[in-house]
Amino acid sequence: MSAPATDPSAGAPTGRRQILVTSALPYANGQIHIGHLVEYIQTDIWARALRMHGHEVYYVGADDTHGTPIMLRAEKEGITPKALIERVWQEHKRDFDHFGISFDNYYTTDSDENRVLAETFYRALKDAGLIEARDIEQAYDPVREMFLPDRFIKGECPKCGAKDQYGDNCEACGAAYQPTDLVKPYSVVSGATPVRKTSTHYFFRLSDPRCENFLRGWVGGLAQPEATNKMREWLGGVGEAKLADWDISRDAPYFGFEIPDAPGKYFYVWLDAPVGYYASFKHLAAQRGIDFDAWVRKGSTAEQYHFIGKDILYFHTLFWPAMLEFSGHRTPTNVFAHGFLTVDGVKMSKSRGTFITAQSMIETGLNPEWLRYYFAAKLNSTMEDLDLNLDDFQARVNSDLVGKYVNIASRTAGFLFKRFEGRVQDSAMQHPLLVTLRAAIPNIAALYEAREYNRALRQTMELADAVNAFVDSAKPWDQAKDSANAVALHETCSVSIEAFRLLTLALKPVLPALAQAVEGFLGIAPLQWADAAVPLSSAQPVNAYKHLMTRVEQKQIDALLAANRESLQASENPAAATCGTAAIAAATAAPAKAKAKAGSAAQTAEAPPGMISIDDFAKIDLRIAKIVACSAVEGSDKLLQLTLDVGEETTRNVFSGIKSAYQPEQLVGKLTVMVANLAPRKMKFGISEGMVLAASATNEKAEPGIYVLEPDSGAKPGMRVK
Ligand code: 2FM
Ligand code: ZN
Repeated sequence: MSAPATDPSAGAPTGRRQILVTSALPYANGQIHIGHLVEYIQTDIWARALRMHGHEVYYVGADDTHGTPIMLRAEKEGITPKALIERVWQEHKRDFDHFGISFDNYYTTDSDENRVLAETFYRALKDAGLIEARDIEQAYDPVREMFLPDRFIKGECPKCGAKDQYGDNCEACGAAYQPTDLVKPYSVVSGATPVRKTSTHYFFRLSDPRCENFLRGWVGGLAQPEATNKMREWLGGVGEAKLADWDISRDAPYFGFEIPDAPGKYFYVWLDAPVGYYASFKHLAAQRGIDFDAWVRKGSTAEQYHFIGKDILYFHTLFWPAMLEFSGHRTPTNVFAHGFLTVDGVKMSKSRGTFITAQSMIETGLNPEWLRYYFAAKLNSTMEDLDLNLDDFQARVNSDLVGKYVNIASRTAGFLFKRFEGRVQDSAMQHPLLVTLRAAIPNIAALYEAREYNRALRQTMELADAVNAFVDSAKPWDQAKDSANAVALHETCSVSIEAFRLLTLALKPVLPALAQAVEGFLGIAPLQWADAAVPLSSAQPVNAYKHLMTRVEQKQIDALLAANRESLQASENPAAATCGTAAIAAATAAPAKAKAKAGSAAQTAEAPPGMISIDDFAKIDLRIAKIVACSAVEGSDKLLQLTLDVGEETTRNVFSGIKSAYQPEQLVGKLTVMVANLAPRKMKFGISEGMVLAASATNEKAEPGIYVLEPDSGAKPGMRVK
């Protein structure tokens, strides 16, 4: 590991550092979703926080464009892979721009720079004696005439018999096995039964003692103990020789780069993907006059950091550092892995509407900085999974950002502007509260660098609480009533607005757009960490205050979930396509455990015959409903007509066959449970917009009686039943 200029966790170093930062490259066959955004937001906050020290920071990314899934996806859409990756690049770029991801260059792995670099890496590794050709036998689709990656073979689970299971693990019973264990295997591409076929493949000899020795030394510099442990597990004890060689080639047909002097053989997508980090940087370097070689060759003093999901640690802490080391490049200063995202405690689900795409957030008009803030408030430097709890999201954003932070400006900016020409009282700039805030800023900056964003924001909000308490006790609204208090009012407002500036500085890596609006309001240059010590001055009046952020409304969350539920029906993904996670990659290269994990993260569970999965159950939108009116239906001896309040703008009309058990007046005012997403049904008496749940015996004739379900006390109309 090349030594960083300082221990990055120790706080801001001295001197101007050169820092290259990357996030994992998303596959070019799927949409960006909130699972991806955890990582891009995490990386972006870090890059911004380091830029605010004045360091030379380049944050680069690219679409990961090669491989079988992309080739097949294009084929399915009837377009060329190049047309597909061009379209997806535009979509990804739009999404990243919307969420304020400040890439210095967003590129593609299907570039000339990447082809040249991949070939350079390959040749150097070959010259070092680390590439070996070997014949291997693999599953082959005789109809489509292609070799099949594991994820493209399905069949019956050898343990429980569930149909249509992938070749690595069963999503019905959880069993892990080899593709060859599948009963009645078939190719997902053509439906044909796969056969075994031999072909020559190229391997990177990771098992070579040189690689092992190098990696044993390199592992010591990893920042995360979990990553170090994982890597030590993969390396095993000295003499155990646990590292396996890595298959870096694929046979035609394949969308990728052909291997030099090996016609019909292509670099496996995971070979040229990390090289794509450098290709993106090389493209940027050419545009900006940066000395690319000085940054990436062995001995470089620049720093290099890769942010990734924990499922692709294997590629970034074994293959990639070894590729770099033995091809004459510098090795990563550090690799930072984060955990997986769950929504409301469970994995993202298309049927629940929690597989939330970036596009849906754009279309439903949610402020992207709300999500940036929420993720930051949950992120730390570990690989722990994090949960987006939608109620907590709404509460936290509204309370912290609107209720605490923005509130400070909205309480005092008007007085400063109208009564004091927008000029602060210079003598107030050394108020003890401001001294405390200024002293906290370097610590907050260091917490960002240490990726302890949750702690940085907790401290910031504690400071915001202190500022609000100051305003509460000074009571500017009372001070403003008597002109004799003008000096005191001026002080209150000046301290508040300077405190607001300092809090904005603390929040700027997370909320860049909001910070820019505040800089405009205050009439100041873009804030850097060093500006903590440069207070506002009466020489530069602030501008009229405009409200900076609105509250998150429940109806916006509902619209977001609805948009994502709908998009499932509108665009069902082909089974082979990934969701932009490492599913395919991990399934073809990573150890079995990782495969099972990545696979299950990307797919919706199916249930054994006769059962439904949790995802099936979640399709039913059960809600608490209040029966606000009830009447008999003329001409029907079975039905009652119910008017239900389900917490929506208008009530629902539901016909229910419960007349034999209830008088209408018995039901009025009761709470019950209804199926709220049942398609409306046109009946003889009108349209029924849902169904009320009631219990009855299996044999209704022998044991008559209907019992409408009632929730426990405390339940309110519109609440979800789950
Ligand atoms: O897992 C994934 O989504 C891969 N496309 C990540 C590649 S990261 C890098 F190595 F390029
Ligand atoms: Zn099974």
